[in-house]
Amino acid sequence: MMSKKAVVDEERALSFFVDGKSFSVSNADPNQSLNEWMRSNCITGPKVMCEQGGCGCCTVALVKPGEKMKAIVSCLTPLCSVDGCHIITSKGIGSSREGFHEIQKRITELDLNVDTVHLDSL
Ligand code: FES
Repeated sequence: MMSKKAVVDEERALSFFVDGKSFSVSNADPNQSLNEWMRSNCITGPKVMCEQGGCGCCTVALVKPGEKMKAIVSCLTPLCSVDGCHIITSKGIGSSREGFHEIQKRITELDLNVDTVHLDSL
């Protein structure tokens, strides 16, 4: 039989995907940003610099069920807000093994820095 505490803890667990990999976080810190959580879990595609939403180096794509994909700055996104979402980082859109995404190919062609490029410039 499951104790009442176990039920409460289970209700607090967040579930989401990053680059297709499933994660579950119990008792998430309401003050922790998505970027802080990703970098503390060795997901280092999104960088961190200004932590104020200004530089864009922490940008990821966020897919919420039933909504269109959108770009967000992970430094200002609370981890608790991504429950049920799919997050796609710059490392999740393609690789040398699986084949590069058209955006990655274009970044290479233009000799741009993948961490600071603004996609609308492509
Ligand atoms: S670290 Fe600069 S926008 Fe997130």
